[in-house]
Amino acid sequence: MKVYHSKVLENRLISTNIYKMTIEIDNLNNDIKPGQFFMLKTLDNSFLLPRPISVNEVGVNTVTFVYRIQGTGTKSISYVKLKDYIQATGPLGNGFDINLINGRVAIIGGGIGIAPLLYLTKCLKTTSDVYLGYKDEVYLVDEFRRYANKTVVVTENGGIGFKGFVTDYVDYNNYDIVITCGPEIMMNKIASKCRDLNIKCLVSLERRMACGLGACLGCTVETIYGNKRACKDGPIFAGEEILVQWRK
Ligand SMILES: Cc1cc2nc3c(=O)[nH]c(=O)nc-3n(C[C@H](O)[C@H](O)[C@H](O)COP(=O)(O)OP(=O)(O)OC[C@H]3O[C@@H](n4cnc5c(N)ncnc54)[C@H](O)[C@@H]3O)c2cc1C
Ligand code: FES
Repeated sequence: MKVYHSKVLENRLISTNIYKMTIEIDNLNNDIKPGQFFMLKTLDNSFLLPRPISVNEVGVNTVTFVYRIQGTGTKSISYVKLKDYIQATGPLGNGFDINLINGRVAIIGGGIGIAPLLYLTKCLKTTSDVYLGYKDEVYLVDEFRRYANKTVVVTENGGIGFKGFVTDYVDYNNYDIVITCGPEIMMNKIASKCRDLNIKCLVSLERRMACGLGACLGCTVETIYGNKRACKDGPIFAGEEILVQWRK
């Protein structure tokens, strides 16, 4: 992990309130695992805490993020102009261990939770079926199609792709492992289903984070093994490990 002051190579709107930002990071040596994140912060808003944003893509000396404007922090990041500099601390978190992801893989993303799953799909040693759930507008679909065996698009209003919830279009019995990132209600449903069917499940958990480094305990997650830190021990957890907190 390092603190970089990185040049912004792109920061553009790709859908309503959704931005894609690519920054330059030299000598990263392909050290980034899918599922890891950076704490991002603009250089002019020093009073704001950095915000955790997942790695969406990694290129030669570049890292790309896709983020949704949620509040003050992400809004300020969206104002960063081309060739400006941004503070990026990372890579952080455990990330996915791709050597342990084998067999028939389903990747299920919901909303902005789709963003970190692209680099995972690219890095996997096995092909995967990808299920993408959106409210109405879609993004990153062509990028997923580049790497996935099959890409299923579902929107709540049915305007694009299938209609309804993405979880209803997955035949879980076809898979050895299911990986998900998205709203907690969706991940809870998927983790429960996988537990019932005895299928391995990995979830990427979101928590509000202050330090991102494992120091403040602000991101504590209750697991069957006791409390863990989403930023340091996660954000990737086995689904059954954290079902305990979703059951409450
Ligand atoms: C490991 C990790 C990876 C992430 N990756 C991405 C990513 O790739 N793309 C992306 O768009 N977002 C991602 N997020 C979420 C992102 O960090 C938050 O949206 C951002 O920190 C919000 O900051 P803000 O200042 O814009 O909003 P704030 O002003 O801080 O908050 C605005 C509103 O959003 C709620 N909120 C803020 N953060 C969270 C949160 N983490 N969970 C639930 N509610 C929240 C607040 O309660 C408030 O109501 C990730 C979060 C984590 C923990
Ligand atoms: S955000 Fe500080 S310990 Fe996780």
